[in-house]
Amino acid sequence: DASVDDALAALQAGEPILVHDAADREGETDLIYHADFVTSDAVTRLRNDAGGLVCVALGHETAEAFDLPFYGEEVDHPATADHQLGYDERSSFSLTVNHRDTYTGITDNDRSTTIQALGEAAADPDATAFADEFRVPGHVHLLKGAPELLAQREGHTELGLALADAADLSPAVVVCEMLDDESGEALSPTDARAYAADHEFAYLEGREVIDRLA
Ligand code: 5RP
Ligand code: CA
Ligand code: ZN
Ligand code: ZN
Repeated sequence: DASVDDALAALQAGEPILVHDAADREGETDLIYHADFVTSDAVTRLRNDAGGLVCVALGHETAEAFDLPFYGEEVDHPATADHQLGYDERSSFSLTVNHRDTYTGITDNDRSTTIQALGEAAADPDATAFADEFRVPGHVHLLKGAPELLAQREGHTELGLALADAADLSPAVVVCEMLDDESGEALSPTDARAYAADHEFAYLEGREVIDRLA
């Protein structure tokens, strides 16, 4: 699939790609970058052009090396019981973090500092003292990939991590939902494709990624 090859090359070049999961899942298109390349300008694009929640997905082993739990398993509050997502068995949310060099953590500069540091940490987890480098809670949502990636779960978390792996990049990708400024709903696949074409970004259907990489 040439479009998967284009997307892998784009990730390696630090460009964003768009991935629509599936009409019968979230039905959302996420704008995705590898964490290493997330500059302040990239965060500006994520919040203006995508507009959803800016999250960094980490591979399962990497998250385990940093002692990062699934949020719902760690927080002892009655509302975490019986998660009942309409589209999946469980959410991939872990904790939220700021790099310790940030001030509030929310500015484009601060979030890019946190995100790039997560990319660097994921490249060499053993060399990272996570708690010395990051504080919890913060302004970047961490997601924790399923151990067997696409064999277990077909979310943007796993789609993004499988693409990073195939591109020989570390297991840390930023994902953010594309929302429609007119309707407030998820941006339609047609409009997401048009945005991708306008900007010469790669656009993939989750199915193409699963057929190639699962
Ligand atoms: C966090 C989300 C997004 O949908 C994100 O794509 C990760 O979730 P999933 O792996 O379930 O698609 O809800 O903003
Ligand atoms: Ca917008
Ligand atoms: Zn998603
Ligand atoms: Zn979502």
